[in-house]
Amino acid sequence: MTGSRGSNPHAPAVRPATPADGGAIERLHRRAFGAEGDTIVTLLGDLARDPTAAPRLSLVAEADGEAVGHVLFTAARIEPGPPGLTCRILAPLAVDPGRQGRGIGTALVRAGLDVLDAAGVDLVFVLGDPAYYGRFGFVPATPAGLVPPHPLVPEFADAWMERTRAGSPGAQGRVRCADVLEEPRYWRP
Ligand SMILES: CC(C)(COP(=O)(O)OP(=O)(O)OC[C@H]1O[C@@H](n2cnc3c(N)ncnc32)[C@H](O)[C@@H]1OP(=O)(O)O)[C@@H](O)C(=O)NCCC(=O)NCCS
Repeated sequence: MTGSRGSNPHAPAVRPATPADGGAIERLHRRAFGAEGDTIVTLLGDLARDPTAAPRLSLVAEADGEAVGHVLFTAARIEPGPPGLTCRILAPLAVDPGRQGRGIGTALVRAGLDVLDAAGVDLVFVLGDPAYYGRFGFVPATPAGLVPPHPLVPEFADAWMERTRAGSPGAQGRVRCADVLEEPRYWRP
């Protein structure tokens, strides 16, 4: 997948992040998230150190030699869940504000889901805009019996989404994430 553009020669190159990308990734999230930037950068650092976040999948979109987008997937689980079921959660995702609307976020999410599908990961969760994530096959998770780590305010109800890999038996239960991502502040507006 390294440097992959898939079948679209105009799509950004998506590759695994390396330790050398750390500063660029932080700057990117600060620019993309504005007032929330500090919180997101703290989350990134905490997830990098939290052993319960592994396995991680951290991908960078590169254009003109610079990181212009980043997505991170970390471990999740369902309690009680069938033995052997594997889950991840997508958070955070950011694209440089000067490059948004050109398919970079889409390329990052699709590349990540391709890697996770190929690895046999059963379910992927996200707390995000249904209008955006629906295009990747994410559907509301609560009606599917997948309870978020913390109760959500009504305006977030549809934002809690899951994507079950084709062929996976799926599951129901309470979703748990890495310890740092379980902090209630990440589940409030
Ligand atoms: C959300 C984000 C990652 C999308 O990246 P992007 O590269 O601009 O997205 P793409 O070009 O792949 O997709 C563009 C499409 O997504 C839509 N879109 C972009 N941001 C959106 C958002 N926040 N909510 C809903 N739809 C959004 C656009 O309207 C466009 O729709 P269309 O294809 O129907 O025309 C980017 O806008 C961003 O970094 N935002 C700030 C940080 C953020 O909100 N991250 C997501 C947290 S869950």
